Amino acid sequence: NHDIYVLGIETSCDETAAAVVKNGTEILSNIVASQMESHKRFGGVVPEIASRHHVEQITLVIEEAMRKADVSFQQLSAIAVTQGPGLVGALLIGVNAAKALAFAHGLPLVGVHHIAGHIYANRLVTEMKFPLLSLVVSGGHTELVYMEGHGKFQVIGETRDDAAGEAYDKVARALNLPYPGGPHIDRLAQEGKVTIDLPRAWLEEGSYDFSFSGLKSAVLNTLHNANQRGEIIDPKDMAASFQASVIDVLVTKTVNAAKEYNVRQVLLAGGVAANRGLRAELERKMAELDHIELVIPPLSLCTDNAAMIAAAGTVLFAQGKLADMALNADPSLEL
Ligand code: KG4
Ligand code: ZN
Repeated sequence: NHDIYVLGIETSCDETAAAVVKNGTEILSNIVASQMESHKRFGGVVPEIASRHHVEQITLVIEEAMRKADVSFQQLSAIAVTQGPGLVGALLIGVNAAKALAFAHGLPLVGVHHIAGHIYANRLVTEMKFPLLSLVVSGGHTELVYMEGHGKFQVIGETRDDAAGEAYDKVARALNLPYPGGPHIDRLAQEGKVTIDLPRAWLEEGSYDFSFSGLKSAVLNTLHNANQRGEIIDPKDMAASFQASVIDVLVTKTVNAAKEYNVRQVLLAGGVAANRGLRAELERKMAELDHIELVIPPLSLCTDNAAMIAAAGTVLFAQGKLADMALNADPSLEL
């Protein structure tokens, strides 16, 4: 029997997750325990609270993933765990759980980069065709990653300040919307009109880097100045104008890079991939390039989960890139 079964574990931020994936493509179980409610009243993820929740949940979540998948530890080929980047105290819970289980059951251990996981969520949807380009947009990351083959990541652009999701959450906070604000801005933007002129950070000619802090400041200043003058800005229009600026830059740079690097596929990844405006605009622009396939995973695979970690871990396992008991959490791990 040559089937590969990998248990994936993810605890880099505020979701405690475990999943079993067969052959890197088929989800047998995918359990996510979200801590969102605990962090909401603080307006963001509180690292200490995150760690404590992970400790409470990790064993239960792994047990449930194994039970749902109906595989035994003896049947597993390897255990894959998010090594970084992320909150160090949160990462440590997953890494130590993975090491303990690998040791107890004599299984190979694989350390996975969180962004590699987000990209490999796409392999749970369809076959990956190289060379490809992935736009990774989440609360912690905004990256354009070029891949020539499995496990070969080349970051061709990244944010120089705030991540896209971070900008959404900060603007949402300024509009008095609850955390996380991305989905709320998305909803308001659908109802509003683009009436406010906001900057787009194109950076140097040909650069695939991003910058969202100037845009965020422009939104805050516009709201502040209007407030001073006793004027009222419709939050719907501000949401629509902000979102138009973010999407314009994300989609334009992605399409330009896809052309320059002559890729076969463009993959969308990360929590912000849930954004309806982004999905629609990327679909519209990519349709003009009929030879490049666009892949957008379902929402449940875009936000943090462990199936994506198991999928990426399966490739690393197959390539013999194993970790040992010295594996440690690395909050600023490079892709
Ligand atoms: O990938 P993710 O679940 O966690 C990280 O690894 O960061 O991404 C969470 C981020 C948050 O900033 C959230 O506001 C944003 O994704 N987000 C959205 C939408 N849904 C989630 N941003 C814009 N539009 C959405 N519909
Ligand atoms: Zn993530």
